[in-house]
Amino acid sequence: MGKKARGAEAFEEFYSKAWGERWPKLKQSLVGPKTYAAIKNPHFEGNIDWSSIKTKELWPQIHLLECGGTWPEVATDEQGNRSHYMMDPASCLAAHYLGVEPGDEVLDLCAAPGGKSLILLNRLKDQGKLVSNDRSRDRRERLKRVLAEHHPLKESIDLQITGHDASSWCLHQKEAFDKILLDAPCSSERHVFESPKHLNEWGEGRTQRLSKDQWTMLASALDVVKIGGRIIYSTCSLSPLENEKIIEKLLAKRGERVRLIDIDSPYIEKASFGYYMLPDNGGWGPIFFCLIERIG
Ligand SMILES: C[S@@+](CC[C@H](N)C(=O)[O-])C[C@H]1O[C@@H](n2cnc3c(N)ncnc32)[C@H](O)[C@@H]1O
Repeated sequence: MGKKARGAEAFEEFYSKAWGERWPKLKQSLVGPKTYAAIKNPHFEGNIDWSSIKTKELWPQIHLLECGGTWPEVATDEQGNRSHYMMDPASCLAAHYLGVEPGDEVLDLCAAPGGKSLILLNRLKDQGKLVSNDRSRDRRERLKRVLAEHHPLKESIDLQITGHDASSWCLHQKEAFDKILLDAPCSSERHVFESPKHLNEWGEGRTQRLSKDQWTMLASALDVVKIGGRIIYSTCSLSPLENEKIIEKLLAKRGERVRLIDIDSPYIEKASFGYYMLPDNGGWGPIFFCLIERIG
């Protein structure tokens, strides 16, 4: 058997096959300037001048810049609270669509560095439970810092930071959470482009391996969410193997236990299964996500 193709050429071949005529523009947009939303910290008590920029509140505490401009520098108050956390608006959206409500028991399976956990925590309004999990010790330290600096804890909320393997969570707990966010480790092509080393090493085997892990994590999450509860499965990948194909597999293997929820929003585009937000169409993302309800 011949050696599998690697590097920029193999990458190009795989993604142009996946995205067809759209690929050149999509590829170009991956190396273009990034757009950021700011998640404002409601507990920040320092001075920061928001008056010089025009912003729009997309959802509670998630703000977008209007008509260009730049975000003010992050400030820290005397208690160590930081003024805001910057994040791709598409990532904010994926966490938002989980629909967390005060009092929910929520699990963020792959949480570091913590931007989406922050959104979930804000949505809980200090009532309920959030378990923010990440297997990487280093990234977990960053997660702890991000949450502590942007959301001082009240006694009314149960926040736990854990370091388990998302794929085997179901061996220890079943039907335990109302809502689960599975923002899975993925190919992240934007990062591949930023690193010549990663681009040179790229091979199709990488997205195939990741998709196997992602499937195991999603199958695990399905056992861990309560019946009637919801899961957001998301990645920042453009590989269909890590996105639509995972959901297709879910329907084929666990179809009687799940229902995909439709989302109507001007910010997203429908895929065969789930939704995309892509940088060639508005500058956000890439993000793929799917909202899944467990029905059995
Ligand atoms: C896409 S990042 C998550 C980004 C995060 N949701 C945010 O908004 O900041 C994926 C994370 O999954 C973690 N991870 C990878 N494999 C894991 C596993 N088997 N179990 C739990 N976490 C894992 C990585 O350490 C990484 O931090």
